[in-house]
Amino acid sequence: MKILGISGSPIKDSNTDRALQRVLDATGQRSQFIKLSDYTIEHCNACLGCIETNQCVLNDEGVMLAEMAYKADALVVAGFTPYSSLDSRTKTFLERLYPLRHRHGLMAQKPGAAIITSAIPQDNANMPPASQNGLDAIKHYMMEEGMNYIGGVTIPGNVPCVRCGDAGQCQMSGIKMIHGQDATVANVGINNIDENPELLAKLDTLGEDLVKAYFTEMP
Ligand SMILES: Cc1cc2nc3c(=O)[nH]c(=O)nc-3n(C[C@H](O)[C@H](O)[C@H](O)COP(=O)(O)O)c2cc1C
Repeated sequence: MKILGISGSPIKDSNTDRALQRVLDATGQRSQFIKLSDYTIEHCNACLGCIETNQCVLNDEGVMLAEMAYKADALVVAGFTPYSSLDSRTKTFLERLYPLRHRHGLMAQKPGAAIITSAIPQDNANMPPASQNGLDAIKHYMMEEGMNYIGGVTIPGNVPCVRCGDAGQCQMSGIKMIHGQDATVANVGINNIDENPELLAKLDTLGEDLVKAYFTEMP
């Protein structure tokens, strides 16, 4: 079994990257980790140039990435949620898998899983449902391609303001927007998945479930 892991996070060694690597490791199978910011991928132009060949007519690294997805037995997609929806790199990657669809459903039946890192906590009723939106975007890609979506894990992330240095004073601080006017980096804290054993256990379970689904449910 060979698993392809895709991270849409451009940040070096981010929570998203480490969560994805954790799931891949938990599978105990051969896997490949791809960081989309290392590649140049144009948008799908909806030209339908792929319908006879199952190959995109664009000449960029998106073609190779689609080929890797086709050759993989399972797919784990990890994104984050700028402005409360799936990040554009991850979305562009998913749309560039469209050539694999035509007539043959080349991704169908494969197990798939999602990871989403969001700064807005899932239980914050005053803010958009960022994690859910991100998870749904990946899940709906997998559903529409007939893949076997086995589940997703949401990761508490950090607003970029934690790295800016001015989050305590700034009028536009994302920390205050999410956690209220008294919030500071110091009292909200910085989320790091490695300090969250419960979350690490969920990521391990996701990896194990992916493998189980492949060996018990693939035709
Ligand atoms: C431009 C930008 C806008 C963002 N807007 C949101 C947002 O609306 N909701 C949210 O939950 N997180 C938002 N974030 C935070 C990202 O989800 C956060 O950076 C993510 O936790 C980063 O994960 P990483 O460190 O693994 O890359 C935003 C991040 C960026 C860079």
